[in-house]
Amino acid sequence: MLDHEQILIRRGPRSGLPVILALHSTALGPAAGGLRLWRYPDWRDGLADALRLSAAMTLKFAAAGLAGGGGKTVVALPQGTRLDPARRRDVLYDVADVIDSMGGVYAVGPDVGTAPADMAVIGEVTPHVFCKPEDLGGSGDSSPHTARGTLAALRAVGRRLYGDGDLEGRRMALIGLGHVGEHLARLLAAEGVELTVTDIDTAKRELAEELGAAWRSPEEIVSADVDILIPAALGGVLTTRAVRDLRCRAVAGPANNQLDTPEVSELLHQRGIVWIPDYIASAGGVINAMTTELHGLGVDQALARVNAIEGTVADLLKTADDLGVTPAQAGLEMARRRIRAAMPETLPR
Ligand code: PHE
Repeated sequence: MLDHEQILIRRGPRSGLPVILALHSTALGPAAGGLRLWRYPDWRDGLADALRLSAAMTLKFAAAGLAGGGGKTVVALPQGTRLDPARRRDVLYDVADVIDSMGGVYAVGPDVGTAPADMAVIGEVTPHVFCKPEDLGGSGDSSPHTARGTLAALRAVGRRLYGDGDLEGRRMALIGLGHVGEHLARLLAAEGVELTVTDIDTAKRELAEELGAAWRSPEEIVSADVDILIPAALGGVLTTRAVRDLRCRAVAGPANNQLDTPEVSELLHQRGIVWIPDYIASAGGVINAMTTELHGLGVDQALARVNAIEGTVADLLKTADDLGVTPAQAGLEMARRRIRAAMPETLPR
């Protein structure tokens, strides 16, 4: 069954690269979702990623109680592509035209491979863009807010595992020191967390040293003996095989689409490992962007909304217990209930 409302694929006339916009749902409001500029073996892999990521955005908005729908844009770069500044502008203009052609049912933001400076370029063409730099009237970098929201989720997990939200001395392993991962590593270090980190880019070892964090290879870190494992890189880390190797008590992090397949959440549950749905732990960025840019909230009010993720996770864990289901099932049920409630009666459910 086709789940998505619209999928638009266009070979960018300037760049020659495939621009893929997946609009999953506008049931709760106009859709939003980041622009992923990433390398894929084949553009169809980029399409598959866009389909999954946009569906996750729908859940993210619903679970956060925001009146937004899910979408995502992927520009699938052939392996080994490096974009010089001129080519990058071409790509961004190609993307901007596609977004503008949607007439406001979808707005873009940053994601893996893009940042506020890119949003500024897109903003030259279309108003439907979040997270432009602050001096251009946007809310700027969303990654510190995403990291804050993940910290809130981790506090709720700490409360669940140990009865309190004090993270000092807890052992955590963080996978990925990109935009969000680096902010999160700094926040966790400031909380006194005993950190182990990794990244595919070994230059990030410097950050590990600066923070007094242990370094492991990406392969080793999955089986690190820690309290909480935090995926903060690309999706799909939680494969059946990885779950067998886990030695943590919980997995919670900001990476989108952590489960290789939906069934993995059952395996985690069977192993007694608490998994917090990624679309809840990663919502801080969109919460901040939407509430400040669309709803006019001030910085402090937006921060309160981001920190409310702690309560959302606590409620989710309680609901899962009460109903005897996994947190994954409880999360889906909560999000779907909100989406259904907003759909006109006449539409098939
Ligand atoms: N990359 C963000 C996410 O996955 C997307 C986003 C951020 C969209 C900020 C709009 C504004 O949640």
